[in-house]
Amino acid sequence: KANQQWGGRFSEAVDEFVARFTASIDFDKRLYRHDIQGSMAHARMLHKADILTEEELGSILNGLQDIKEEIERGEFEWSVALEDIHMNIEARLTEKIGIAGKKLHTGRSRNDQVATDIRLWLRDEIDHILAELERLQDGLTELSVKENKTIMPGFTHLQVAQPITFGHHLRAWREMLVRDHSRMVDCRKRMNQCPLGAAALAGTTYPIDRNYTAEQLGFDAPTANSLDSVSDRDFAIEFCSASALILTHLSRMSEELVLWTSQQFDFIELPDRFCTGSSIMPQKKNPDVPELVRGKTGRVNGHLIGLLTLMKSQPLAYNKDNQEDKEPLFDTVDTVKDCLRAFADMVPHIKSKSENMRAAAKTGFATATDLADYLVKKGLPFREAHEVVGKAVAYGLDCGKDLSEMTIEELQQFGAVEEDVLEALSLESCVEARNHIGGAGEG
Ligand code: ARG
Repeated sequence: KANQQWGGRFSEAVDEFVARFTASIDFDKRLYRHDIQGSMAHARMLHKADILTEEELGSILNGLQDIKEEIERGEFEWSVALEDIHMNIEARLTEKIGIAGKKLHTGRSRNDQVATDIRLWLRDEIDHILAELERLQDGLTELSVKENKTIMPGFTHLQVAQPITFGHHLRAWREMLVRDHSRMVDCRKRMNQCPLGAAALAGTTYPIDRNYTAEQLGFDAPTANSLDSVSDRDFAIEFCSASALILTHLSRMSEELVLWTSQQFDFIELPDRFCTGSSIMPQKKNPDVPELVRGKTGRVNGHLIGLLTLMKSQPLAYNKDNQEDKEPLFDTVDTVKDCLRAFADMVPHIKSKSENMRAAAKTGFATATDLADYLVKKGLPFREAHEVVGKAVAYGLDCGKDLSEMTIEELQQFGAVEEDVLEALSLESCVEARNHIGGAGEG
């Protein structure tokens, strides 16, 4: 028999493969709570507009509430023939309450319905992600306070550059997350408009009150143009873009954690519970969590490109293509949440190996800039000081001595240094001297 939601025009039932091919119920059922939330708001609006009676509204609201509970108890029977979450719920509602169920879809289309559902769903997920970002930021702050005096080398080109503290490095990570947080807040703000009322594409002839619907659902306003309302998926792309940056940041942190746990660096220790062993090499403790987070960045970047490509060239207004927005969006949300959770759980338990960090800062001539600055303060122009210190470094490389290991006499071969140079070249003084806003010695 032809489809019960649109059978009128059709002379045969949809092909069985086509039914499965076009259905989205397998993945869009996770929108059920927000679909019901949107339907309840729509029904209340229809009642306010005198389109539904008090009684019809009551039975719709009760019916939807029961359906939600059926789904949560695992008793709801999903039907591929009913294609998606919207029609599954509507059909069940009619089965339960009869004729009033058939009135719910008055002045509405699945096009504005699905656009609303995804926004409601994503808004909740963003709130969760914001909370996880805050938890990770707090973990970094806490650890950075503990590691505020831990000297380590700062790198450029992965070559030892200047001494910094581990705390300063951790606060650099936190800055990335502060920007991620504000990008998510932005995305949430821009998407917080209600498409309901746009109906299929042109709006509806019923005396609807779009402000009332928007208000009930916590949206800031109704969307401004009906065609745009049902065809816009910018918010999903913006969300995936902000997520790709979060993952990019987590993968940069991951890369450093992986390097730092290697025997060659040996700067930190990750708790055993965040690592795994090898099935063949008994000595192994592998940093799997950061490695996997680094790897997951690939799929999130992929989803961003997938969604951009999905939307490219789509004519207005709704097209079935848009059903393809869900899986990449859902997987992005799941991945970002899992990765943030892993990091927020792990970061507070990172243990620094401060002796190794300090030893690494002592090799590689990390204080060379400070020696040049010292000479400048004694009156030498910077370019000349740079040259002088370069020669001292070359000498140090020859005889295997760091600047801090040279005697005053040795240093004096290159420039006019005095007793106070030794103090000026201590790792602590080098860090503390950079005590301006944003400097390594600020903490
Ligand atoms: N399942 C569809 C989607 O995800 C819902 C909207 C379908 N609308 C339509 N006219 N076929 O986009």
